[in-house]
Amino acid sequence: MSLLSLDADQLKELAERTRKDYEALKAKGLQLNLTRGKPSKAQSDLANDLLSLPGEGNYTDAAGNDLRNYGNLDGIREIRELWGKLLGIPAENLLAADGSSLNIMFDLISFAHTWGTNDSERPWGQEETVKWICPVPGYDRHFAITEKFGYELITVPMLEDGPDMGAIRELVQDPQVKGMWTVPMFSNPTGVTISEEIARELASLETATPDFRVVWDNAYAVHTLTEDFPQILPILDYAREAGNPNRFWVMSSTSKITFAGAGVAFFASSLENLEWYRSFAGIRGIGPNKINQLAHYEFFGSAEGVRSVMRRHAALLAPKFDAVLRILSERLGEYEVARWTEPKGGYFISLDVIDGTATRVWELAKDAGIVLTKAGSAYPHGEDPNDRNIRLAPSLPPQAEIETAMDGVATCVLLAALEKLGA
Ligand SMILES: Cc1ncc(COP(=O)(O)O)c(C=O)c1O
Repeated sequence: MSLLSLDADQLKELAERTRKDYEALKAKGLQLNLTRGKPSKAQSDLANDLLSLPGEGNYTDAAGNDLRNYGNLDGIREIRELWGKLLGIPAENLLAADGSSLNIMFDLISFAHTWGTNDSERPWGQEETVKWICPVPGYDRHFAITEKFGYELITVPMLEDGPDMGAIRELVQDPQVKGMWTVPMFSNPTGVTISEEIARELASLETATPDFRVVWDNAYAVHTLTEDFPQILPILDYAREAGNPNRFWVMSSTSKITFAGAGVAFFASSLENLEWYRSFAGIRGIGPNKINQLAHYEFFGSAEGVRSVMRRHAALLAPKFDAVLRILSERLGEYEVARWTEPKGGYFISLDVIDGTATRVWELAKDAGIVLTKAGSAYPHGEDPNDRNIRLAPSLPPQAEIETAMDGVATCVLLAALEKLGA
């Protein structure tokens, strides 16, 4: 029974009931927060063995280097090999760094801005304008980096198997379009995984400028919510085969596998791109935290060890996602006032409400003590032109709190829709 099919009396009756539900919700005096895409305490506990690693007296890598000292900008060989096996990338093409992949992304853009990439005619900062493609909804912190450098952010819709290639094909005819953000697997916040076809097209795309870069941020490569691990596409191979070996900057990290901020981040690319990166990164620092890299190597043991940790994360996360989906479906399904993604991995559910009501939903929820990620936050500059999208992050709160919060959110979505219809 869609809201639009209700007659005036039925709408009035539903509006009265929903307003009562909302008043009852407010009266509960809740203090709930669904904003943070962070692992829960139980998830962090899965990696507590790391706190006593590397094992007793062990501070050398397999090559016999003393890891307590300076050096080895590339990171220790064994963690690069292990992660390379996981991602399907040779260790030569993959560097192990410190705790945050976002730091590396910021560095890459800063280096290109200040000095230009290895394929640039001049530093990006000396271009009249730099334009950057942003699939939406997307990750706010990606957008924030390119926003900070004053780039013009151009949105393209995220479709079911990746970003809208029709739009991208046209945009890259403009030499000022220097790059784009992607989250290829279990994307933030839609959960979409880019198909092989789209990945290959991104690799082979004819662009107007040779220094066009795709940030391939595989932050959720193994973050399944099921028993299955989708294939990780060999994007660097696709790029090389297509004659564009330098196109991709590939990112990965253990932030949501072990400890956020105290994990290991990885950067993979062509050998030429890595040389370019080292020429600045080697000035910026002498070497990463190799003791932590060894601890991670011992903790995982193998690529299969990583997947085994991720199965345990999935067991904690999946019931929370199921609860959100169940409540959305039970409370809103029949009214057709919202659509939501049903991700098989990652950290988010993307909720689309009736156009023009997302901000109102956010306000209603806030007044009832339920803090949601601000409407529009998955769009550049925080502006959703349709005022439609809300990112739900079920990972952190306990299950019971998620259920209470989502029941409240459903009431707010329905009330905002009824208000919009003037009921
Ligand atoms: C798509 C994406 N990339 C990167 C990050 C942050 O990664 P890191 O902790 O390695 O800086 C996040 C965190 O939410 C994310 O969603």
